[in-house]
Amino acid sequence: MKQYRISAVLGFVLAVFAFDASAVDGASSLRGYRPVEKISVRPAQARVILPDKVYPRSYKHAPPLIPHRVDQARISLKKNQCLGCHSDLEAGDIKATPIGKNHYVNRKGERTGYVSTRYYFCTQCHAPQMNKPPLVDNRFNPEWK
Ligand code: HEC
Ligand code: HEC
Repeated sequence: MKQYRISAVLGFVLAVFAFDASAVDGASSLRGYRPVEKISVRPAQARVILPDKVYPRSYKHAPPLIPHRVDQARISLKKNQCLGCHSDLEAGDIKATPIGKNHYVNRKGERTGYVSTRYYFCTQCHAPQMNKPPLVDNRFNPEWK
């Protein structure tokens, strides 16, 4: 009996989802309307934009956008090539911006002599920009300057 009730509820939930999918007609997945069994179309290659200097920040405390290519910069457990230019030791000579001071603070709030594991995977927060229209319209207004 109990099992019967669970499947009834499940059936209802699925029906609601099915209804929803038809309600948002016009929304398409990133691979377009191609049926699942068809191979998706290869997206056009995008180029990284190289601004004259650095990008202005989008809002206060926003992680700055990357103004250069990063496809050569490897980040693995053994090495982090971003730090080869951006660590406090190297940044001066290369004229790269040294990484933020908070990148040296561990999760207990203690200042350490090395980059915190919380900040090790740079591209988790910092991203270069491409010459492509945004996939989703963005109307975010930071109201800050
Ligand atoms: C070969 C050296 C080099 C490497 C490797 C490198 N960068 Fe840079 N980066 C620079 C330089 C130089 C600048 C400053 C650009 C300028 O002032 O025009 C910069 C600027 C930046 C900025 C902008 C800082 C700001 O104040 O707006 C970010 C963010 C950044 N890099 C992140 C990264 C990340 C993440 C990686 C690794 C995926 C990386 N960089 C790898 C040299 C490097
Ligand atoms: C968890 C997200 C996160 C990660 C991971 C991270 N950053 Fe940042 N980074 C930020 C934020 C947020 C700021 C802006 C801090 C502010 O202005 O308060 C910043 C600032 C910077 C700046 C500019 C500092 C300045 O004084 O203008 C550089 C350069 C930078 N990060 C490089 C890196 C590099 C290289 C790595 C990898 C070793 C890295 N970041 C990892 C979030 C992150």
